[in-house]
Amino acid sequence: MLRVGIITASDKGSRGEREDLSGQVLTKLVQDIEGEVVEYVVLPDEQAVLEKTMRLWADERCLDVILTTGGTGFSIRDVTPEATLAVADRLVPGIAEVMRMESLKVTPKAMLSRAVAVLRKRTLIINMPGSPKAVRECFAAIAPAIPHGIQILKGEASECASALKET
Ligand code: MTE
Repeated sequence: MLRVGIITASDKGSRGEREDLSGQVLTKLVQDIEGEVVEYVVLPDEQAVLEKTMRLWADERCLDVILTTGGTGFSIRDVTPEATLAVADRLVPGIAEVMRMESLKVTPKAMLSRAVAVLRKRTLIINMPGSPKAVRECFAAIAPAIPHGIQILKGEASECASALKET
């Protein structure tokens, strides 16, 4: 069972002015890859706040996967990729490449998402665009490879906390 956290980056959502449909869609989709959503939060588009939650979920909660939705576009407030890169140990370009490649078959606007995917310690962090439609399309493109990637990332370590002490 993959332990998954979902961060929705949305100023309006964090103020309760917009329902977080993308987070709800992602929660259902995660079950298709034998995942369980153990953390979920709607945050404002503030880089420091996003970084803090990613660090906490990767380092203390030892989640396998953190999925973010929203904040990947061109708006000045869109800083999810910057927050993700700031906490990254290693990049996983292929995941974002595949999301954009498959999404471009649906809409040319797919090229406007600056989403990235990275590894922090033993956690995979993946950005997705903010609309429920985009979330469905992007998730479908990458879901088949995620469980295998996490298996490799975790290696022989059965417990994240003790594995972290090794590094
Ligand atoms: N990707 C897919 N698969 N489907 C979409 O509808 N919308 C695009 C793009 N990626 C879209 C997509 C649009 S319109 C924008 S502006 C960017 O994602 C950024 O979205 P965000 O700011 O909500 O993250």
